[in-house]
Amino acid sequence: MRKISKGYTMNQKGRFIAFEGIDGSGKSTQVKLLTQYLTSKGHKVYATFEPTDSPIGKIIRDIFNHRMEGDQKVIAALFAADRLNHLLHSEDGMIKKLNDGFTVITDRYYLSSYAYHSVHVDMDWVIQLNAQSATLLKPDLHIYIEMDPQISMNRLNAGRTHIEMYETLDNLVKVRDKYEIAIELVKNEEKIVKIDGNRSPEVIAAEIQQLLETMENEVLY
Ligand code: ADP
Ligand code: TYD
Repeated sequence: MRKISKGYTMNQKGRFIAFEGIDGSGKSTQVKLLTQYLTSKGHKVYATFEPTDSPIGKIIRDIFNHRMEGDQKVIAALFAADRLNHLLHSEDGMIKKLNDGFTVITDRYYLSSYAYHSVHVDMDWVIQLNAQSATLLKPDLHIYIEMDPQISMNRLNAGRTHIEMYETLDNLVKVRDKYEIAIELVKNEEKIVKIDGNRSPEVIAAEIQQLLETMENEVLY
């Protein structure tokens, strides 16, 4: 684990952690393991993901499944709208959950948009599209799981019957490179750690738990 940035603001009752990485990097596996761990320690945990299962997320999935046409600019804008709804929904929005004292763990947040959409459109424009979300709520911690795109592809091919729109080796290499650029851009304002994803799920989970313990001791929680 390499700590690459400091900087932290806490403006809600619960803590907010965003997992990032290319498809197949092991995010959902780690969200699950961290949820189990924090729950066992007595925390109220709300685990969530983007694209969400809201009607906006459904439009995104319909485009990914080729049931609808969608230009890359439209896709980027839909993700920004889905994210705002994910934040602001009055019942299950992340801001509401944080204010209710939940630790919120999301599988993807705005860094995903910076990385995936800047393969097709200007990253500055994507950052502008997401400026409202970034103003409303920055994660207390982004955990970026570093993963070789070829290993991700092997995992995805082994574990699934169909491969999604962005899941080609060529695209995952581009997205990985864009993640690196995006992280460089935000690392001075936001807290981001990079975790080596090419180890067993349990070893990665233990490192993340250790990281959170350390943060707790630094009065970051
Ligand atoms: P993501 O949510 O980033 O797409 P997943 O957690 O769904 O990734 O993992 C993708 C595939 O790789 C799944 O089949 C999962 O079981 C497997 N996997 C997850 N973490 C690891 C790991 N550390 N080592 C090997 N395989 C893993
Ligand atoms: P997801 O279901 O998280 O896929 P995976 O579990 O394989 O990582 O995300 C679906 C796809 O949506 C994934 O290829 C990444 C992409 N995506 C974007 O293009 N922009 C975004 O802002 C987000 C959140 C995801």
